[in-house]
Amino acid sequence: MQIRYAVPSDLDAIAAVEAQCFPAAEAAPRTQLTNRLAAYPNHFWLLEEEGQLISFVDGMVTDEPILRDEMYENVALHTETGAWQMIFGVNTIPSHRRQGCAAQLLRRVIADARVQERRGVVLTCKAHLTHYYAKFGFLDEGISASTHGGAVWHDMRLKL
Ligand SMILES: CC(C)(COP(=O)(O)OP(=O)(O)OC[C@H]1O[C@@H](n2cnc3c(N)ncnc32)[C@H](O)[C@@H]1OP(=O)(O)O)[C@@H](O)C(=O)NCCC(=O)NCCS
Repeated sequence: MQIRYAVPSDLDAIAAVEAQCFPAAEAAPRTQLTNRLAAYPNHFWLLEEEGQLISFVDGMVTDEPILRDEMYENVALHTETGAWQMIFGVNTIPSHRRQGCAAQLLRRVIADARVQERRGVVLTCKAHLTHYYAKFGFLDEGISASTHGGAVWHDMRLKL
């Protein structure tokens, strides 16, 4: 297993994993992934096994402390020197779940954010995953204003 940052030509593999991991209402559309990859490929962390994409994490960096739905689609909100590393997606293909793949990536994202002197890492998740992110030090700040995909999300923050 190897972790690397993305390049724009990773689009097909990333879009395929995204589509396997999220229902259509929540999955990032291909155009959004294209724009994100063009704007901040260095904020996509890919975990590969023999060249196959197994798992990835992505998200912009911003000085805004709260993850807003507009951030998913508006890459102009990315600020490379920003204070907060957002996480928009944590995805592992079904055949490789419960083997620590997402955990490896999350530890790397957190380590990078520390080296880059961010204030912390922010994500939103559904109630059934708050315990999972808590293991990495994320605190549950309660129900998010997000209406993404019509679901209920919790604001999760890891302060560095
Ligand atoms: C959520 C998701 C990213 C987790 O990916 P993963 O690679 O399976 O994550 P991990 O292996 O690190 O951890 C998952 C669980 O397996 C457990 N696990 C890890 N390694 C294990 C092992 N060797 N044996 C048994 N269990 C293990 C972890 O402790 C964790 O358990 P928990 O849910 O009780 O905390 C994945 O299920 C997914 O893509 N889901 C669909 C998309 C989604 O909902 N993403 C999150 C959006 S916020």
